[in-house]
Amino acid sequence: QKQQLLSRGRNKFNADSTKGIQFLIECKVLNDDAESVAEFLLKGEGLHKSAIGEYLGEKNEFNLKVLRAFTFMHQFSDILLVQALRQYLWSFMLPGESQKIDRIMECFSEKYCSDNPHVFTNSEVCFVLSFALIMLNTSLHNANVKDKLSSEKFSKMVRGIASMHELPADLIETLYKSIKREPLKLPSQSDCQDLMYTFFNPIKEGWLYKKRGTWKRRWFLLNNGCLYYFIQTTDLQPRSIIPLENLKVDVCNDSKRQNCFKI
Ligand SMILES: *[C@@H]1O[C@H](CO)[C@@H](O)[C@H](O)[C@H]1NC(C)=O
Ligand SMILES: *[C@@H]1O[C@H](CO)[C@@H](O)[C@H](O)[C@H]1NC(C)=O
Repeated sequence: QKQQLLSRGRNKFNADSTKGIQFLIECKVLNDDAESVAEFLLKGEGLHKSAIGEYLGEKNEFNLKVLRAFTFMHQFSDILLVQALRQYLWSFMLPGESQKIDRIMECFSEKYCSDNPHVFTNSEVCFVLSFALIMLNTSLHNANVKDKLSSEKFSKMVRGIASMHELPADLIETLYKSIKREPLKLPSQSDCQDLMYTFFNPIKEGWLYKKRGTWKRRWFLLNNGCLYYFIQTTDLQPRSIIPLENLKVDVCNDSKRQNCFKI
């Protein structure tokens, strides 16, 4: 009977991860604690990796605990950051929203630093470097990116970031070579899941003023049916993402502003 419940729970999970976990806890297949759920996700048998990613990305107390437990069940001692990243990114599908990615990657960085306390001065450095590696991956392996980063350029870019200028050059070079040799694989592929591809190949991009409270100038980018905006053109992470689904767009009659519209 437990097998039957488990199998029903997996199906529910793949359709709606939160409901699936609720079901499995209610029928006592899983204990009502983050460790038990995290173990189930890490084992991952019969679970869609995208559903695991969605669950880990949710921002409520219990899911955050599961994310932490899940991440800390990984073992990163004495392996290079890029290897840890490969292992981690393979265990679930990174969700598409930047805030979710942020939370997940922060947790990853914390775990990597706790397993390798002498590699980085703090987990923020590890976090920023991990993003730089994901970006490098797209630069080197996406056919649509014409201007491939060289090892020197990458190193210069990374060490140009204030907190990173002390990183050893040979570490950066080793990371560069690893990504060059082999792309960072994600468990399931589609264009819209490759975030940096999105950012490198927008349908349109440019400055807009947006108002939500006060007017602010932001760099906007349109792609994959989403509007992304950044504070600076050079930012790697969007400030926010607006999915353009089920939205109404209206012309605004603001005499002081040209091409004004309202979403
Ligand atoms: C790395 O690049 C390849 C090729 O563009 C892409 O398929 C893959 O999803 C990328 N990995 C990440 C983590 O973005
Ligand atoms: C904007 O002005 C036009 C013409 O003055 C008017 O027809 C339209 O209803 C106005 N739209 C809004 C959203 O106020």
